[in-house]
Amino acid sequence: MNETVFGLFSVKQAKNQIKLISTSAHSISTLEINFSMQKEYTKSQLALRNGQDRDEIWVAYLGVIYDVTKSRLWRRGNHYEHWAGQDLTDELKDAPHTEYVFDKFDAIGVLKK
Ligand code: HEM
Repeated sequence: MNETVFGLFSVKQAKNQIKLISTSAHSISTLEINFSMQKEYTKSQLALRNGQDRDEIWVAYLGVIYDVTKSRLWRRGNHYEHWAGQDLTDELKDAPHTEYVFDKFDAIGVLKK
């Protein structure tokens, strides 16, 4: 990835992490606490939220998991030629849009390495 890297995170990943934390933080003072409390899910837990096996539909991007259940564009887990329940970071380059499409969705956890 051709971008500045801070420690273990690239700029994009750091932005996503901050979004994830602020989604559940009610004030700056809870940010730190939430940072250590972020939920981790395994690939198989993510795979179950593919729009077929469970009601929830999740998509991961740069290791952060988003809940896209309410999206009409991800019904049954399918979005054009793409399927939910996995990390679609590499596929975003095929999309006619940028990562900003994730802005309106809640980041609900991170993908376990
Ligand atoms: C052939 C590839 C793709 C096509 C043609 C496509 C097309 C679209 C279109 C037309 C929209 C709605 C307009 C917009 O917000 O710009 C959209 C929204 C979105 N796309 Fe894609 N997309 C593709 C791939 C992807 C991939 C790989 C991801 C995930 C990494 C993704 C995630 C999303 C999300 C989260 C939304 C927002 C849905 C909503 O607002 O309900 N898309 N896409």
